[in-house]
Amino acid sequence: MPDKFEKYLPYGRQSISEDDINAVVSVLRGDWLTMGPTVERFEKSFADYIGAAHAVSFSNGTAALHAAMHVAGVSPGDNAIVPSFTFAATANSVTYCGGKAVFADMSRDTLCLDPESAVDACKKADGPIKVIAPVSYAGYPAGVGEFKKIAARYGAVLVEDACHALGAERGKNKVGVEADMTAFSFHPVKHITTAEGGMVTTDSPDFAKHLRLFRSHGLVRDKKDFVRSYEGAWDNDMVEIGYNYRLNEISCALGESQMKRLPSFVARRREIASLYREKLSSISGISLPPDHPGHSYHIFAIWVANGRRNKVFEFLRKSGIGAQVHYVPLHLHTYYRQKFGCKAGDFPVTESFSAGQLSIPMFPDMTDDHVDFVAEKIRESLA
Ligand SMILES: Cc1ncc(COP(=O)(O)O)c(C=O)c1O
Repeated sequence: MPDKFEKYLPYGRQSISEDDINAVVSVLRGDWLTMGPTVERFEKSFADYIGAAHAVSFSNGTAALHAAMHVAGVSPGDNAIVPSFTFAATANSVTYCGGKAVFADMSRDTLCLDPESAVDACKKADGPIKVIAPVSYAGYPAGVGEFKKIAARYGAVLVEDACHALGAERGKNKVGVEADMTAFSFHPVKHITTAEGGMVTTDSPDFAKHLRLFRSHGLVRDKKDFVRSYEGAWDNDMVEIGYNYRLNEISCALGESQMKRLPSFVARRREIASLYREKLSSISGISLPPDHPGHSYHIFAIWVANGRRNKVFEFLRKSGIGAQVHYVPLHLHTYYRQKFGCKAGDFPVTESFSAGQLSIPMFPDMTDDHVDFVAEKIRESLA
């Protein structure tokens, strides 16, 4: 492979064009580095793409989730149902609010939260259930209908963690319009990048207002938003607790430029997934991820049978392929074991899938030759 990935082909990587660079440079030459017009333009282009009424940007996807959990009302004594099979941020955002992340198992058919296990978790929860938080793992659009019903039954807010699923679709809907709030991440391995960044989409003007307050110290400046008397144009009033979770103009310029390229990024990811399916389907000892017409393939998650995952992982790494594992189940992390007394055996589907899971390279700038190379190395590793 005589190319820039000759020595190392990562599992995920940003794609930066000259237009992206020019967009960033023009912000650097301008007047605003933060809290300026580019933030609003990026948010508008994002909301329009998703088809949501509001998009509120954040400094990263974790901050976006934290804000969504806070705005959904999670506070000490409350519960949120979270799959164990996800990145730590999904549960941590509940913990930051003082709530309890009640873990549930995954479905082997979708690799997302299993609705039946979510119902069991609701029954086991001690105290009010404020949030149901399915994760559209790998870019597979989790079946939101079942979770809406569960949320309605418990009077909970549906917060979808779509940090893997920008560009994914359920029929005509983009992921990001059906849940009450949906969180996205713009880390460099994701579908678009702002270096670090995140977004929450919602159709609720009330949620949007509180998300904006939360990302900027809970401060209001407009006279109409004041609770106490307004003293003049210099005045501001902190009406709620908030953080500094703002996304800056430089990141938003990159984000706005990347949004123009998003449809081609998703199309290329789908093309790579089809190529992998073609090349890998004849290899015994692995299984391929579930397919869905609306999958946006943040990661391509294969499963290696017979306890051979680590062997394949080592072989790929030695061959210059940046395979990765997503994820160690959250209920097996020391922090959550100690906090909630979780243990091995609690979520058998999650544990068995996680033990064989392997993410292989998936990013838009990969060539078909890279796909061939990865497939060949997987075949060799199992020979
Ligand atoms: C499922 C999931 N949720 C949340 C996050 C947090 O996003 P960020 O890294 O932008 O904070 C990630 C990041 O990888 C993720 O994979």
